[in-house]
Amino acid sequence: MADKIIYPIFDKMMSREDKEQLLGQRGIMIWMTGLSGSGKSTVALGVERELHGRGILCRILDGDNIRSGINANLGFSPEDRRENIRRIAEIGKLFVDTGIVTIACFVSPTIELRQMARDIIGPEDFREVYIATPLAECERRDVKGLYARARRGEVKDFTGISAPFEAPEHPDLSLDTSRMTLREEVEAVVELVLQH
Ligand code: ADX
Repeated sequence: MADKIIYPIFDKMMSREDKEQLLGQRGIMIWMTGLSGSGKSTVALGVERELHGRGILCRILDGDNIRSGINANLGFSPEDRRENIRRIAEIGKLFVDTGIVTIACFVSPTIELRQMARDIIGPEDFREVYIATPLAECERRDVKGLYARARRGEVKDFTGISAPFEAPEHPDLSLDTSRMTLREEVEAVVELVLQH
């Protein structure tokens, strides 16, 4: 194979600071992790709406959307989940570097996967929000019917049932949607963004 010769032009582009000044805001990644059905997307939608109302530009990156587009070729093996998160983190970094408040909603089930995302994006721009809704509550809700199917053995490697989920050890924020109102959850995340 011929040598890969690439010429990055990042140093010639308008800088992140130029873009943040234009927008009057700072880019940040709010990385939501939690079980399927824990409420990641619902909280993200609420945060986006609230921040948008305050004149802050946001972008949500969501599991089911990304997996039907750029990551349509990936499944749920450990290797595919890793590639899923790697691509999302690289895409997320582009948004953050454009000054956008970026909210990622992915199960991202292991400490190692989330550390990779943090390393790609850079720790100073990365905040981890654990949507800590207990498995029993996620399974009770079973919004997509996937827990029932996983229990019947129809969905293999299902996080929480037949594949692992490691809770974050030191999340910036931990929200249990079975104990808080959506309003409270949204306010807590908005506060985290505004502190930045
Ligand atoms: S991750 O583990 O690679 O981060 P991601 O957040 O992209 O997962 O996708 C999770 C979503 O895919 C779940 O909310 C669920 O709707 C769906 N899904 C389908 N199969 C599985 C599975 N085996 N494990 C987890 N989620 C699954």
